[in-house]
Amino acid sequence: MTAIEFPIGGIDDGVVRLRLHADRDLERVAAASLDPEVLRWTRVPEGNDASAMAEWIGEWRSGPGSELHLVVVGADDDELLGAAGIVRFEQDERRCEIGYWLAREARGRGVATRAVRLLAGWIFASLEVDRIGIAAERENAASCAVAERAGFRFEGVLRSWLVIKGIPRDAAMYSLLRDEPPEPRGGSPMPS
Ligand SMILES: CC(C)(COP(=O)(O)OP(=O)(O)OC[C@H]1O[C@@H](n2cnc3c(N)ncnc32)[C@H](O)[C@@H]1OP(=O)(O)O)[C@@H](O)C(=O)NCCC(=O)NCCS
Repeated sequence: MTAIEFPIGGIDDGVVRLRLHADRDLERVAAASLDPEVLRWTRVPEGNDASAMAEWIGEWRSGPGSELHLVVVGADDDELLGAAGIVRFEQDERRCEIGYWLAREARGRGVATRAVRLLAGWIFASLEVDRIGIAAERENAASCAVAERAGFRFEGVLRSWLVIKGIPRDAAMYSLLRDEPPEPRGGSPMPS
């Protein structure tokens, strides 16, 4: 599979920018990704110090073409806010999944929702993809809310779909299809 090419200067919506990782980001990304919420809900490895984390992040950058790892930064100041990317690109099926996390101090102001909308728009414009999925753990209300705010539709719960820290987890699956009008907010059942 060929690598996913992303614009060198990144893409932005005037408030947030998605761009490829640079060396100057490594320390900040590593520190921010040690946040307990990030460790709890994502595949970011636990128990690593900043240099081991930097090595892990370095592996993404030279990793296979089926993934795309980006940083989310302020459009004006390039301040690191979090990360987003394509975590599963299945070319033959014309589909991918996206993932995201934010530094603690960047939460609560719509940054993740913007990043997801921006990334989804770029994927449909640039890749032969007809379906973008978001698989969030059922109990991860903050992530489910991002998917909903970004207009993704709740499809159902996939049992043991995600394996995080070696443990299979049920996932709420959301999707957005090419040319589909975004789902108005509030159309999906939240986990009980
Ligand atoms: C999931 C995660 C990225 C969500 O972050 P978030 O800050 O809640 O999401 P957003 O950036 O979209 O911000 C939404 C919040 O900002 C508020 N907000 C303020 N201005 C806003 C705007 N212009 N647009 C949208 N929301 C806005 C919303 O009301 C919402 O707050 P609320 O939760 O109190 O209702 C974050 O909790 C996180 O990093 N978690 C750990 C990693 C993780 O779970 N990743 C996902 C794995 S599937």
